[in-house]
Amino acid sequence: MAKKNDDFFVEKKPWSKVKDELLGCYLKPYVAKILYTRKPLAYVDCFAGKGKFDDGNPGSPLIALDIFKQGLASTKLDGKARIGAAFIDLNYASDLETNLHDYPGVKIVPGAYEDTIEDLLKSKTGCNVFLYIDPYGIKALDCSKFDAFANGQFNTIELLINMNSFGFIREGCRVMGQKFKMDDTFFDDLVEYDPTRLEASDKSVEALNQIAGGDYWKSIIEQYASGKIDGYKAEEYFSEQYCQRLSESYTYVLNMPIRIQQNQHPKYRMIHATNHPDGCVLMADNICNRWELLKDIQTGGQMSLFETDMNNQIIDAAQIRDQVIDHFSQCDSWTSLTEAEAVFFVKHGAICKSGEIGKVLKSLEKEGRLAVDRTPAFSEKTKKPTAFMTEGHGQTVSVKWVK
Ligand SMILES: C[S@@+](CC[C@H](N)C(=O)[O-])C[C@H]1O[C@@H](n2cnc3c(N)ncnc32)[C@H](O)[C@@H]1O
Repeated sequence: MAKKNDDFFVEKKPWSKVKDELLGCYLKPYVAKILYTRKPLAYVDCFAGKGKFDDGNPGSPLIALDIFKQGLASTKLDGKARIGAAFIDLNYASDLETNLHDYPGVKIVPGAYEDTIEDLLKSKTGCNVFLYIDPYGIKALDCSKFDAFANGQFNTIELLINMNSFGFIREGCRVMGQKFKMDDTFFDDLVEYDPTRLEASDKSVEALNQIAGGDYWKSIIEQYASGKIDGYKAEEYFSEQYCQRLSESYTYVLNMPIRIQQNQHPKYRMIHATNHPDGCVLMADNICNRWELLKDIQTGGQMSLFETDMNNQIIDAAQIRDQVIDHFSQCDSWTSLTEAEAVFFVKHGAICKSGEIGKVLKSLEKEGRLAVDRTPAFSEKTKKPTAFMTEGHGQTVSVKWVK
């Protein structure tokens, strides 16, 4: 059901809460880590909205700004930590001015993301750049821009994208003509604001190619139209291939399906793309934690019989162990633990927290199947060999499979 976009900010809906938590709970550890690169952080909320919902709940701008304030206050970098935040919105620049009034130094950019982002990023060479991309529809999501950002002269670059994958499938059916018509009841419970609507034309096909970063989506729509797959599978295939396409420019791409009710199919996907393994592992842990919150919203806090992952699959500890063994047995030479974990998450999705992988690895180390090289090797305090299975805070871990 399409809605007038003004309604969006009347009150914050549950799925907006999950989306914001995914952003906020990632930004906290991200900021703590990224400031230690001693390069400035340039944060851009590309579809910022009003800053605050009419019911008083913070929107993505206030969520990020509060985290930056706390992050700067708690860092030990003695004034050397720098964060520049910019907020783009086509319709709500004046609301942003009002609602972000208490945060000096923020940049508010009135206008369209697609017209302003390149200019905004021109001066960010050498910075750590984070782009939050949360549009209503799909129109502005030009994949070639994402490729170009990855090739920019930044120290690091990360994207968090809200991709309305169902909206894409619907438009794919529409632009490919009558015989590809999708059953409208399919979208009954999809509440959309200002959805993208394209007419059947070559120009629209080209517009979808630009968004998808290729024409792979056409064969998915054809399979759907011929009855080979249903609409849910079509969305799943499209999301998979879209992530694969992004991985041409970003080594680590993860996605979290957002379902509003349990057993319902996803309404859209939050997609995280980065070239840094630590970012990927942080996000995988974050997705697992947010999934627990989403489950609580879906079930009203009722306990379920089985623990399930975000794809509604029952979590099976034995299966995770097998997947960890299968993956880490391919580490023939010393490999950074974080890098190996990030590749695991890209391959399997955020099926468990990194701590669960760590537990399996410790048991494999005990069994003599995994060699582990830790720095520091001995605890300064106890002088005993260290046993940690996480990197960061002056600790590194490399692993190698024992043949
Ligand atoms: C989903 S809302 C963003 C909500 C925001 N992230 C939050 O959590 O508060 C999308 C926003 O994009 C804005 N918008 C629409 N088209 C745009 C464009 N081409 N460029 C920038 N902003 C746009 C709308 O005015 C709207 O405020």
